[in-house]
Amino acid sequence: MKFENILIETKDKISTITINRPNKLNALNILTIKELHNALEALSSDNSCKVVVITGSGTKAFVAGADISEFYKFSKQEGYQLSQDGQTNLFDFIENYSKPVIAAINGYALGGGLELAMACHIRIASKNTLMGLPEVSLGVTPGYGGTQRLAQLIGKGRAMELILSANMINAERGEKLGLTNHTTTQDELIQFTYELARKMTTNSSTAIAASIKCINSNFKDGENGYITEINEFSNCFQSEDFIEGTNAFIEKRKAKFK
Ligand code: COA
Repeated sequence: MKFENILIETKDKISTITINRPNKLNALNILTIKELHNALEALSSDNSCKVVVITGSGTKAFVAGADISEFYKFSKQEGYQLSQDGQTNLFDFIENYSKPVIAAINGYALGGGLELAMACHIRIASKNTLMGLPEVSLGVTPGYGGTQRLAQLIGKGRAMELILSANMINAERGEKLGLTNHTTTQDELIQFTYELARKMTTNSSTAIAASIKCINSNFKDGENGYITEINEFSNCFQSEDFIEGTNAFIEKRKAKFK
């Protein structure tokens, strides 16, 4: 598959997708969103990939937002389509992805950039990172799930403050608020991210997929996360990974999942 705005590399069961528009601070235009969707779709059935890492190219930005130059003349209808297509094809798609997706935030994560990071399952940020949802300073609301996911991650009051002020926060503050999981130096970001990803590659893919489903279930209208958990838990029983994982424990050896 050929891409214009992203790079993909898979090594040791970890696939890294790099958003590659450094001259535009990796701003998310419609083509980039489409390419990210297509890449993730392909990786979802690729057995050489167990974890996905998303990062930005260059040293300045993860993603500095949706591409303002692309949407600034859009009509209401086009704005609706932009938000709906983006949410469905990328942001919700990542949140519900069956393999862990980790955002390695290597600089500015603004607007759609922070929304992309928030759709990922885990966020690790380098110290040069500045994060925020500055949309109201442009006369618009966040449109890629930011009003919902930010409140889920850091609480309603803090989400209100960050969105209504359009302020940016640094990585340390982001970690304190629970927006990011870890903070590293710029040099250590990718190595640190890979170490966490590597640990995940040793675990059962089917149990990981089921766990992601259970955790997300708590945030879905009309779903009862506890019931989802009972179903997913019981579905694991006598699966190939369950047999290998539990037998390895009994036999005092390390599990080897396929
Ligand atoms: N959409 C489109 N282009 C963007 C962009 C975005 N969200 N963010 C940055 N760019 C482009 C700039 O227009 C500039 O392009 P040019 O060189 O062709 O003029 C290039 O990326 C570099 O950005 P620049 O503003 O010169 O860098 P800076 O270091 O002075 O400032 C930021 C960095 C992140 C503070 C600034 O680019 C910015 O405020 N970006 C928009 C952030 C935003 O509002 N995001 C939410 C969008 S909904």
